[in-house]
Amino acid sequence: MTVQTIEVKLSESKGEKPLAEELQFGRVFTDHMFIADYCEEKGWTDHRVVPYEPLTLDPAAIVFHYGQTVFEGLKAYLSKEGKIRLFRPEQNMRRMNQSCERLCMPQIDEEFALEALKQLLIVDKDWIPKAEGTSLYIRPFMIATEPYLGVAPSTKYRFMIILSPVGSYYKEGIHPVKILVENEYVRAVDGGTGTAKTAGNYAASLKAQEVADQKGYSQVLWLDGVEKKYIEEVGSMNVFFKINGEVITPELNGSILEGITRKSIIQLLKHWNIPVIERKISMEELKEAHANGALEEAFGTGTAAVISPIGEFNWQDEKFVVNEGKTGELSKQLYDTLTGIQTGTVEDPFNWGVEV
Ligand code: COI
Repeated sequence: MTVQTIEVKLSESKGEKPLAEELQFGRVFTDHMFIADYCEEKGWTDHRVVPYEPLTLDPAAIVFHYGQTVFEGLKAYLSKEGKIRLFRPEQNMRRMNQSCERLCMPQIDEEFALEALKQLLIVDKDWIPKAEGTSLYIRPFMIATEPYLGVAPSTKYRFMIILSPVGSYYKEGIHPVKILVENEYVRAVDGGTGTAKTAGNYAASLKAQEVADQKGYSQVLWLDGVEKKYIEEVGSMNVFFKINGEVITPELNGSILEGITRKSIIQLLKHWNIPVIERKISMEELKEAHANGALEEAFGTGTAAVISPIGEFNWQDEKFVVNEGKTGELSKQLYDTLTGIQTGTVEDPFNWGVEV
């Protein structure tokens, strides 16, 4: 780890924290943020925790025009003993660097970024909500700040971490969500940026999401970009299906995001001796499994989504309801175990939890 100092400039507290029952996802931000700046000559400099406030950027900054930006998402929890807990944060820093590599952005010092995050969390600890199902969402991100209208990697960047106390990502909370399978648009293609957490992937998803909203569905399920046949992911979460006692999740193929929750769920299932397999799965196969009663459960996994049971799919205007639209036993068991490990109330067999 590079030894650098972090300057801390404290602000007045914004005062009242939002009530747990009023918490939505990503609408409220804490008192402070972390910033570091990069230029080619000096590398990363000016590491600082400062009051949360709007940024001043040149309107020609590359991020505004060509979307050279990456982000991460992780959460902090408060244990019963009052300790700040993170879940596998080193994995997020590693993935951030992988996204940076794809977007021609500079690498961060992963260990130092984690130290910076810990300092920020200590300063804003009072913002971590305590109620069940709530947490402090952490959004590290990097933007290209050089003012230039040519299409080229920026020579200047800003790395930031902001914090937001959150409730559940979906309005359904932990109840099953309804998903619309997208047949027209695609999210990512082989060789594209699907595995990177970069803004463009999310901007490209909005059109389909708008249609899903109008039809009363929470999210869109993306199919592969070539044949529109194989299931990929839901954009805000990876997906799993329990068919005939076996859990299946689409294999990583270069266009699916490598979810840290996805990886953790696979490890947990293996630990419990529940058969789990990463392979291609088509919508036809899912439809057939539903028709013959083999599809027992479906759920999504993600930092924001946690474990989100899926109660219904709509594919080409045909609806199929999963597990009578109810939360399945396995989804519930996974939700309880994962959130228990995250908050420190359940044994952590893999030492995933990190106390600050
Ligand atoms: C997360 O789960 O942290 C994500 O980054 C998904 C985001 C679209 C809310």
